[in-house]
Amino acid sequence: MAHYAVRESPPLRGEIPISTSKNAVLPIMCGALLTREDVRIDRLPQLSDVSTLSSLLLACGCRLRHEDGALIITADDFKNPQDEEDVRKMRASVLVLGPLLARLGQARIPLPGGCAIGQRPIDQHLKGMSALGAKVSYDHGGVTLSGRLRGATIYLDMPSVGATENLLMAATLASGTTRIENAAKEPEIVDLAAFLSSMGARIAGAGTSTIVIEGVKALHGTSWQPISDRVEAGTMACACAITGGELFLRGARSEHLRSLLFKLSEAGVHIHDTPGGLMIFGRARQPFEIRTMVYPGFPTDLQAPMMAVACKTPGTSVFLETIFENRFMHAAELARLGAHIRVENRVAVVEGTHDLTGASVTATDLRAGAALILAGLCAEGETLIDDSGGHIARGYENIEEKIRAVGGSIRKLS
Ligand code: UD1
Repeated sequence: MAHYAVRESPPLRGEIPISTSKNAVLPIMCGALLTREDVRIDRLPQLSDVSTLSSLLLACGCRLRHEDGALIITADDFKNPQDEEDVRKMRASVLVLGPLLARLGQARIPLPGGCAIGQRPIDQHLKGMSALGAKVSYDHGGVTLSGRLRGATIYLDMPSVGATENLLMAATLASGTTRIENAAKEPEIVDLAAFLSSMGARIAGAGTSTIVIEGVKALHGTSWQPISDRVEAGTMACACAITGGELFLRGARSEHLRSLLFKLSEAGVHIHDTPGGLMIFGRARQPFEIRTMVYPGFPTDLQAPMMAVACKTPGTSVFLETIFENRFMHAAELARLGAHIRVENRVAVVEGTHDLTGASVTATDLRAGAALILAGLCAEGETLIDDSGGHIARGYENIEEKIRAVGGSIRKLS
């Protein structure tokens, strides 16, 4: 798997096209299982998570075709995945549960284990499916759900993104009305609901904490362009803020990034919202405080890139991570570059202004990998990032080409 060699670079200048959102496209690919007809997904991002989910859909018997950068999925005749390894490779595979159950009346997946950033249980997904009438049984490390689904009111204990998506998909084909209360409000949920509505689903309230779904008998095919990737755009905005550059993020949508843009502007970075994307100028000069929260709060996925920015920003910045229990692993790696960070449970305190120097570091997860690239761009000499886990390519399309195109020195070594 990959290593990245990053060298201290001049301020990044130019334009970066923002790819289609990973977190929007994965549930939409699973949603294609809800119809026998063709579903076309335009501007498919080339990410290893997308390839992993494509392999899983093939293993379920779906037909997949690529055409002009789009993916066309046909799920006219499919089954549960036979090989549990296909599901185990990626956490987001749990999102096939709702569609499989709704179409086939039965679904089985291995229970996902913990991952680098936390335990990540799926109890809310299962609780919701059970409320919809599914029988849930556990055996040999897996969970099997069966039964015909009927509408119900579901209250989520926390507004889980994945559970909201899974239940939303399952409820589209359940008989009667489903209400999901304390639902997640992320833009990817709104996009999934709009995609399902374009297939004939009847959904109201996506983007608020109560989503109401009137079940229909069948859904039809559609053609969909998912939203742009707000986490990629946010990461590139951080790359600008750490190097003091001037970047145009083509396709980035300010309404999806308000919490980050407020923090960057408090830190002294200039932002111009234009119809085609976002202009970001200048360096972060003031320290900041970040508390990760569910949307529209500050996204946990941008906590690591912002921590890289804090390492180079004069003063004391404070981070409180409330979503995942173990999401500060990049702190120890940033410290190898000379950053001063103290972590106590869910709080990290960063003393900025210290000169960073290149070192060998490890990408412990996807966003941690991005944070190390950003720090490497302003660390003296060379930073060698070991990404044997293949994390960075899971979620950033051609990151090295995009950063090189705006003047950053980065090479991917296979
Ligand atoms: C999604 C995103 C991920 C992002 C996260 C939070 C995708 C593919 N991934 O992940 O990039 O970091 O939202 O914004 O869209 N939880 C439970 N029980 C459950 C479900 C979740 O306890 O049944 C907990 C999790 O352990 C975590 C928190 O709820 O602490 C948030 O998880 P969730 O919103 O479900 O995140 P994902 O959908 O896995």
